[in-house]
Formats: sequence, structure tokens, C-alpha cells
Amino acid sequence: GLTTDLAGRHVVVSAGGTREPLDPVRFLGNRSSGKQGYALAATAAARGARVTLVSANAELPDPAGVDVVHVSTALQLREAALKAVADADAVVMAAAVADFRPAEYVTGKIKKVDGVDPAPVALVRNPDILAEISADRARPGQLVVGFAAETDDVLANGRAKLARKGCDLLVVNEVGERKGFGSDLNEAVVLGADGTETAVPVGPKEALADVVWDLVAARLA
Ligand code: PMT
Repeated sequence: GLTTDLAGRHVVVSAGGTREPLDPVRFLGNRSSGKQGYALAATAAARGARVTLVSANAELPDPAGVDVVHVSTALQLREAALKAVADADAVVMAAAVADFRPAEYVTGKIKKVDGVDPAPVALVRNPDILAEISADRARPGQLVVGFAAETDDVLANGRAKLARKGCDLLVVNEVGERKGFGSDLNEAVVLGADGTETAVPVGPKEALADVVWDLVAARLA
């Protein structure tokens, strides 16, 4: 049926994977396609929300009826997300954000140097956007949702991450050869700061997105 339980709400979703440039031709990146974040944006719009999608390097068409802000690096994603969350009812961080970026950007293509192996690449920490948004709610009652890509000890790592990030819900998806990154399918457990655990069986990314919005809508009500 037609659900408009997010009508009148503004939600912010991040999607895709950040790219941290080393020089004009190289970057540190990850395998996020943006599909999970785009599915979240499209399903929220279908449920009546005003949606801002902060998209990092996803090669996907802008979803209909969604405001899309295109970014590339973690610092750009942070700036766009902080601006968008100012009047948001809920924020879902599905983007894979680089924890580190190269300490310096080299304006000419980096050359190999004979005898220097391994090449020195100094990295510095990126800000943790999800932790920042969680700690500094732009609105009272603003709901913050994180994602966690884990390869082992999924639930224990997820619980620890939820506490560390300070968000209300954490969608823990096990990533592997075929699951998570790039696939049309996902499988997850949604952990609540209130102790709840919602298992979502393997299925289309839109189905997981709808479960996330069910949990968000119930908590906003
Ligand atoms: O894009 P797809 O191909 O569809 O794949 C979807 C996905 C697997 C990328 C997605 O479902 C997912 O799990 N996204 C989060 C991946 C991730 O980077 O997890 P993490 O454990 O590194 O980060 C945890 C949370 O903190 C995430 O909400 C992330 O957005 C946020 N974060 C991380 C680092 C940082 N510096 N700032 C952040 O805000």
C-alpha cells in the first residue's frame, strides 16, 4: 500500500565511497557503489519525506524527487552533511567514508624513486562525521543512523561501534566477496541504542532501506 509515514519530514542520507586524492591521477578509495544509500533515498522519498542525498562518487542516476549534493572527499562529505542536517529529522550515514587521507596532495604526478621501496605515503585521520553528528544533534530528537561494514565478529563489533559512535541505530552488514559492496542484495542486523536487534534477511537493498525507515518512523512518532 501507499505509505506516507515520512510526510513532512526532512531526511538526509549519505551514499557511495569517498576518494582521497594522492596526486592528479590517483586516490585512496573503496568499493562502495552507492546502491544502498540510493535505495534509502528513493524509499524515503516514496514514503513522503523531503530527502537530501549526499553522494560520493556513485555512478548512479539521481533518484527522482531527491535533492542530490555530489561530493568526492570525506572533508567535502562532512561539509555537505553538516549543512544538510541543520533542519533534518533523521540522518542515515550509508556512505563508506575513508578513515584516513594522504597527509599531502602532490600537484604533479608522483614519480617512483629508484631504491625507495616501499614508497612512503603518510596518512592523517579524517574527522568521524557520524560521531560528530551524533554528539552534536542539530535538533532535539534528531534521529541518527549509522552503517557498519564488518567482516568478522559482526555483532560484537557492531555493539562496540554503536556505543563509540553514539548514534541511535546501527545497521550492521557483513561484507564479503559477494555481499554488501556493489551487490543489489544486502543482509543486516539493525542494532538499537535502546538494546533492540532487528534481523533483516538477505534481500534487495530497498527492502533493508524500508526496515530502516520503519524503525526511524516509529522512533520519530
Ligand atoms: O554502496 P554499496 O555498494 O551499496 O554498499 C553499501 C555499503 C556496504 C557501503 C553500506 O551498506 C555500508 O555498510 N556503509 C558503511 C560502510 C563503512 O564505511 O562502515 P564503517 O564501519 O567504516 O563506518 C561506520 C559508520 O561511520 C558509517 O555510517 C560511516 O558512514 C561513518 N563514518 C566512518 C568514517 C568516518 N570518518 N566518518 C563517518 O561518518
